[in-house]
Amino acid sequence: MPKDRMMVRIYDRAMKSGKQRRYYGGSGFYNFGYWATGAASQREASEALVDTLLARLPRKDGSILDVACGLGASTRRLLLSYPPQAVTAINISAAQVATTRQNAPGATVLQMDAVKLAFADESFDAVICVEAAFHFGTRAAFLAEAFRVLKPGGALVLSDILFRRFTSGISDRIGVPKANLFPDIPSYRAQFDELGFKDVIVEDATDECLGGFRRNLVAWPASEHRKGAMSLTMSFSSTAVCRLIASYFGAITKAYLLVSARKP
Ligand SMILES: C[S@@+](CC[C@H](N)C(=O)[O-])C[C@H]1O[C@@H](n2cnc3c(N)ncnc32)[C@H](O)[C@@H]1O
Repeated sequence: MPKDRMMVRIYDRAMKSGKQRRYYGGSGFYNFGYWATGAASQREASEALVDTLLARLPRKDGSILDVACGLGASTRRLLLSYPPQAVTAINISAAQVATTRQNAPGATVLQMDAVKLAFADESFDAVICVEAAFHFGTRAAFLAEAFRVLKPGGALVLSDILFRRFTSGISDRIGVPKANLFPDIPSYRAQFDELGFKDVIVEDATDECLGGFRRNLVAWPASEHRKGAMSLTMSFSSTAVCRLIASYFGAITKAYLLVSARKP
């Protein structure tokens, strides 16, 4: 099976699992979230991540494209700021597209690859992509597509992950093409400059996003137990699993980035 299909299957399965749904408070999000604004749960942090990216857009009128919308939680969040006819969402997974249609009524939701956007040049005032560009084949191809479909003066905002170099050995397994591994933030940022983006801001938000996620994940089973939602035995074994997941992401991640850029 091609590696990108395998990655999508893994997401489709993981996003449906009962534990994941409980951890994300049934929101449909699947990201690390943004914890610096005092989020008390993963759901609140994931909402705050979308809000933090939206706050980096110079304007919130016109049309917006949500790239790699997951189960549509980010798309639903966009509907708080945009009328439904202004919102388009895409995902490579047919199953996730179907769920997004339910979660974000009125938005246009299409199955599409982020590196082959089937939209005319200069279609959108804004493009948002939450925690997914590292998967695309390649990130550079997606950035070129985002530039093409943005109107002049339009803006791109994304959260993205810079993985450590040694991750190249395991990049197939985690669905990250080797071409998407960059040694540092300046070389990552150069991709935007080369395409002609202006006002490029790349903010290292590793602690605010990944750090908060790791701390919350490890503490989650005990808090579920305190609420009576998980037995003591289950909370012990879940804490061990959550610690492993938190350590794994800590080990492979170089930086979690919040990026904004404008098409002149
Ligand atoms: C970590 S999830 C983030 C989902 C969502 N943005 C959120 O924040 O909840 C990554 C998403 O990228 C999607 N994806 C991966 N490769 C893609 C591609 N080439 N084109 C469109 N979507 C893709 C996956 O299906 C998955 O929904």
